[in-house]
Amino acid sequence: MKDKERSSMVIAIANQKGGVGKTTSAVTLSSALAGLKKKVLLIDLDPHACASIHLRVYPDHQQYSIYDIFSSEPEGWPDLWRKVRVQRGEKSIDVVSANILLSDLDADLREKPGKGVILKHALSLVRKEYDYIVLDCPPHLGILLVNSLIAADLLLIPIQTDFLALHGLKLLFDTVNLLNKVLPEPIRYKALATMFDRRTRASLRVLELMERKMGDSMFKNVIGIDTRFREASAQGRVIYELGESRGGKEYAAVAKEIIAL
Ligand SMILES: Nc1ncnc2c1ncn2[C@@H]1O[C@H](COP(=O)(O)OP(=O)(O)OP(=O)(O)O)[C@@H](O)[C@H]1O
Ligand SMILES: [Mg+2]
Repeated sequence: MKDKERSSMVIAIANQKGGVGKTTSAVTLSSALAGLKKKVLLIDLDPHACASIHLRVYPDHQQYSIYDIFSSEPEGWPDLWRKVRVQRGEKSIDVVSANILLSDLDADLREKPGKGVILKHALSLVRKEYDYIVLDCPPHLGILLVNSLIAADLLLIPIQTDFLALHGLKLLFDTVNLLNKVLPEPIRYKALATMFDRRTRASLRVLELMERKMGDSMFKNVIGIDTRFREASAQGRVIYELGESRGGKEYAAVAKEIIAL
């Protein structure tokens, strides 16, 4: 890859179950990839803007957000891409913030032809600038999730290692299977076990079940419970800015798995 022109991989981080570690994975993996000298663009597609806020890119302070890309015509995109990206952090990543206006997008775009491929087309203008483009998706099914899945080269599904989490997965696979019927190639996915509690047998059993069901479609590395993640988000930092941590190392190992794909 070194001597060739950059060709990015778009990674959509999605699960229709809430609170499974999507945003934590998006923010931490982006940072881990940047730490491995990769050029990363993180796009927050959740109207609640948790990833943006986590990185102190506050939507209220931003003149532009990903909403502007969705609500503009393609002629406006080159100029918007220049304005919408914010550089964040020492090992810098570019961030595009979300905005609460995104919650009206399904209604705004109801009549728009090609509304599912807007993000894919818009990203084609900036792909060559990045090694990885990470999409933090909202938990509910709608035009944002559909755009993300269609734009993605890889769907990364964080799965919390508890029994209820497996139940929520059916929803996401229903969505993926529906899209696969119209897409030229099936969506490639890989699941990541999150919030694994080493001390409980129940967690271990769920992990074994996941590994049995998903096989090679799971990352080998698992993310354990680490209270530092909450600390980091409360401070508007990524876990790597708090010093060494088990959680940070585990995501770095996943980042290496991604690079090796
Ligand atoms: N490995 C972990 N160990 C401990 N806490 C974690 C871990 N991963 C995430 N958390 C915490 O769990 C909560 C939910 O995580 P996060 O916001 O990443 O989930 P999400 O899937 O993006 O949620 P939503 O569906 O609401 O967007 C947050 O408070 C986060 O700090
Ligand atoms: Mg989230």
